[in-house]
This record gives sequence, C-alpha cells and structure tokens, in this order.
Amino acid sequence: MCGIVGLTGSVGERIGLVLRRCLERLEYRGYDSAGVAVVNGGVITVRKGRGKISEVDARVNFTGLNGVSGIGHTRWATHGKPSDENAHPHTDCSGTVAVVHNGIISNYRELREQLEARGHRFTSDTDTEVIAHLFEDYVKARLTALEALREVVSRLRGTYAIALLYAGEPDKVFFARNVSPLIIGLGNGFNFLASDIPAFLEYTNRVITLHDGEYGFITPGSVYVERGGEPVDVKARVRVVNWSPELASKEGYPHFMLKEIHEQPRALRDTWAGLDTDQLSKLSDLLLKARRVFITGSGTSYHAGLVFDHLLSGLMGLDTHAFNSSEYKRYVKLAGDGDVMVAVSQSGETIDTLMAVRVFRRLGVRVIAVSNIVDSTIPRESDYQLYTRAGPEVGVAATKTFTAQLMVLNALAATAALGGGVLGKDEYGLIMGELEHLPDLVNLTITSVEAKARHIASRLASKASAYYLSRGLGLPIAMEGALKLKEVAYIHAEAYPAGESKHGPIALVEGGFPVLFIATDDEYVDALEGNVMEMNARGALTIGVIPAKHQPRFGKLLSEVIQTPNVSPGALTILQSIPLQLLAYYTAVLRGHDPDKPRNLAKTVTVE
Ligand code: G6P
Repeated sequence: MCGIVGLTGSVGERIGLVLRRCLERLEYRGYDSAGVAVVNGGVITVRKGRGKISEVDARVNFTGLNGVSGIGHTRWATHGKPSDENAHPHTDCSGTVAVVHNGIISNYRELREQLEARGHRFTSDTDTEVIAHLFEDYVKARLTALEALREVVSRLRGTYAIALLYAGEPDKVFFARNVSPLIIGLGNGFNFLASDIPAFLEYTNRVITLHDGEYGFITPGSVYVERGGEPVDVKARVRVVNWSPELASKEGYPHFMLKEIHEQPRALRDTWAGLDTDQLSKLSDLLLKARRVFITGSGTSYHAGLVFDHLLSGLMGLDTHAFNSSEYKRYVKLAGDGDVMVAVSQSGETIDTLMAVRVFRRLGVRVIAVSNIVDSTIPRESDYQLYTRAGPEVGVAATKTFTAQLMVLNALAATAALGGGVLGKDEYGLIMGELEHLPDLVNLTITSVEAKARHIASRLASKASAYYLSRGLGLPIAMEGALKLKEVAYIHAEAYPAGESKHGPIALVEGGFPVLFIATDDEYVDALEGNVMEMNARGALTIGVIPAKHQPRFGKLLSEVIQTPNVSPGALTILQSIPLQLLAYYTAVLRGHDPDKPRNLAKTVTVE
C-alpha cells in the first residue's frame, strides 16, 4: 500500500507545498520513501528519496517546486527495497513522463523484458517503472497521450492506482484505477487526485470515487473519464463529504481496526498478486528437503505459524516444531545444518523472533522470513523473504496482516504438497484457484456476517470469560479469536482443543457461559458436535462459526450461528478469522474501549 496524489491548477499556494501537505495526510499508507514531480514550462522535475516525507523534503526540498501540475507519492515498499532509486515518481528514458503508483503490477517482469529488448533503460527495481516506459513507447509511436494511456492500461495486470504527468500536455494529470483506491477532488480552477479523501480535504470536499477499470485525466477545469475506450459520465457520482479530518483518515470508519478488517479483500488481492510461483517452488523444495522445519512467531503471527505447522505436519507428514519465539531456547539443541526455520512477523522487528532467527541461523539453519515490511530487520537477516502486501496496519491488534500471512502460508504449503506428491496437479490447481478468488469471498463474508457479529457482541459484552473451542486446523483460529477478544475487549478468553475442554475448563461452565465453536476440519465435525451438546447440557451460550454445509447439523444445536461460505480447510481459516475479528471489535466498542489502542499493548514489541 502506498499513497498517491495529483494536482492540476492553482489553489493559491506553491504546488510543492500543497503536494507535501497532501502526502502527509496519506503517510499512514506508507512512509519508507517519498517524492514529488511537477511539470513547468514543458519540463518535468522529480525530487524524491528514501525516508519519511519530512526527512526527504529536508534533503531535496520538494516544497520549493513550482509548476502547473504535479504528482506525489509516499511509499510502502512491495517490489524493490526502500531506496532513493526505488522511491516514486518514476520516469521514462527521456524524462518526459513521470508516474506514481499504488498497487502491484503482476506482469511487470514480462513487460520489463519486452521494454528492455526495445532499448529502454530501467533505473529502479520497482514494478511501477514499466508504466512510464510503456507510455513513452506509445507517445513515440505518435499516439496522443490519452490513446497512449488507453494502450498502457490494456497491457497492465494486477492492482493499481496511477497518476501520471506528461510534459507534452502539462495542464493534465492522467490517471487509471484497478482495485487500488483513487478519488478525484473537485475544486474551482483546480482538481485533485488521491488515494484517499483526507489528502485534499482542506482544499475541497466535493469528490468522485473512481471505479475499477476507469482511466482518464483531470485539467484545472475539467474531468474526463473513460472505460474500455468509451467515455463515462461521472457527474452523477459527485458527492460532498462532511467528515472531520480525524474521521477522514479512517475513510469514514470510526476506528482503524474496523477499517483494516474491511480492507482485507484488497490486502489479500495485493498479497496474492505479489506472490511469485517460482519463489514458492524454490522455498517448497527447501522445506521438502529439510531435516526439520521450525516455525516461530509471537502473538497473532504465531497463530498463523500454527496453521502452517498443521498443514506441513498434519497433512504432509513433515517433521515440524512450532513454538512461540520467546521459547526458542528449548529447541536450540535440536537445530543444525539441514534444518529450515519459518519466522513469521508482520513488523519484521519483534525482538523475540529476531533473536530466534539469529541464534538458529548461527547454528546453520536456513531461515525463511514472512513479513509485511520490506527490508525490515527479520527479513534482512534471513536467507529468504516472503512478503505479505497488506499495507501498513495502524490498529495495534493485527487483523489484515494475519489473513495475509495465512494466504502466503497456505500458498506455500499447497506448493510443497504438490512437490511432495501429497496433492495432484488438479487438487493443487483447485486450492490455488480458491486462494486467488478468496478476496471476493472475504468481501461476501464481511457483508453477510457483520450484523450478526454485532448482535452476538451485545450478548458477549456483559460476560467475564469465554472459551473458544475447535479441533485440528481450526484450533489456531480459535486461539486467534480468543486473543483478539482479550486484546481489545478485555474479556478473559481461552482457546482449547474441544476434546480437552472436558479435562478442566468445563468446570467453569454454567448458565450463560459463552463457548464459541469453530468448525474447520470435516474429519472432526462429529466429535465437535458432541462437544457442543456437552456445553448445551450445562446451559452454556453456544456460538458457532460454521461453514454453510454443516449448517443443517449445527444450526439447531447452537444458540447463535455465524455461517461462512464452503471452501477447503486451509482457505476456511482465512474466512473464519473475519467474524472473530468483528466480534472482538464490536464487543470492545460496546464495552466502551478504544480497540485501536488497547491498554498495555504495543504494535511492535522490541524488548525481550
Ligand atoms: C505484538 C502485537 C501483536 C502481534 C505481535 C507480533 O504483541 O500487539 O498484534 O501479533 O506483537 O508482532 P509481529 O510484528 O512480529 O507480527
């Protein structure tokens, strides 16, 4: 995730200054590099670099830039580490095109090879730079800028919000959108483009939200939008927003946690688009050849690791050891050459996970880091890196980064299962196809379960304790659900293997005690049904997160049911996480707590 802006026309202040102010309002979308390009007298000037907006500006002075039109970017690295070269805007060979981009161009390698074969010289490792060179190619072939844009859009695959300057038409900022958000801000004598409304809210509150597949340009006095070569009339889409700047940075959501829960379809789509099948095959070979596989992480990341552990050992029979990273010492004597460690950390900075990585690497273990932050310490110190592309997460309790981790780990496990002969080509194709289309199902799940989650939250809000029970692959999801409730709603919650509940936990159960059941693995459903009946017999408030196919048998038994679509168990772990996140969120809000900043917790823990 990154933030982009574009401006053409005059708001009565120097354009460099206005662009910096807009970018600062988007800094929550990424902050590892920043840059601005303006066009003045038919010449494009770019100033950019690694660091936060204020640091880069102090070095290169982009607030000093003047011009008719300009674009700006604040970056969250996905392709290419944070560096001066990889900072946006990117330009073509002749310096007449400058582009900023949010999203992932999934076919950029292929495009780059074609462009390099035609003599284009690239100066960055980003996926974005292909856009500038493609555009250059088309205008050199005597297409108009709009025709060139049309052709460029037809060549791009993946997700993008783009703002582009062309020196030949200086009063225009060109744009295109697919999946990544892009909004037009309408002014008198000026128009804005931005990833998000707060960017320009101090200048205008009249907005048009662009839809997927739309592209066009803004001038100081007009907006032109097209889709598939046909003009689109967007007049009816103009709306006036009356948000406070505070609310605006949350896109109208009352909390970042809720916004980030709702962002999961996009986070998963970007994560999928960023996966490289060659790299997955290489890493799966490594896992298959390993003597042992250690899996480690803390908090929510540990739970994602447990799902992976289950897939590798339970389904594939690999010799795995999963542990909380703070407990790594217990496993040191087992570790040596020929072993592999998978270290999961959204921030890439958690000290316990970092210590485990350092110690195990010194013992000859090869480490695969799974992280959301490109070039953070853990991936940097690891042998291999697998990135989630969830974008920055502001809420302290992890939500979208967790489901993005599950997606990456499910894809890696499926690739290993294919390599290990546990899955045939067809089964593998089905699982990967399911993961690819999961963002749509996540969207559907959010829409269909939110009201129910709010209702169940009203029944949970007055309780002092809750159990989360499951069996098999659902157990880490139960653990994550319980952790979320504890973290943000401050209700004591514990997860157990459902069978284990009879060995102690059930002693606490009396009338109205909440017990949540997560049914994930088909092979455990009969046993789980028995556990529901045991809890019912003691008057528990039984709540189930159940795939639609098991609705007939559980629907009658449970006090409350949250239904999810039917998918295979690995993908189901992602779908089942959604209602549990919403439940924790709404319970926290009903109890009067701020879910974004839970007491005593930190987003990144850098002390042992
Ligand atoms: C803290 C956060 C959790 C997170 C854990 C691990 O406890 O509050 O949300 O899961 O750290 O963080 P990491 O960045 O390593 O995933």
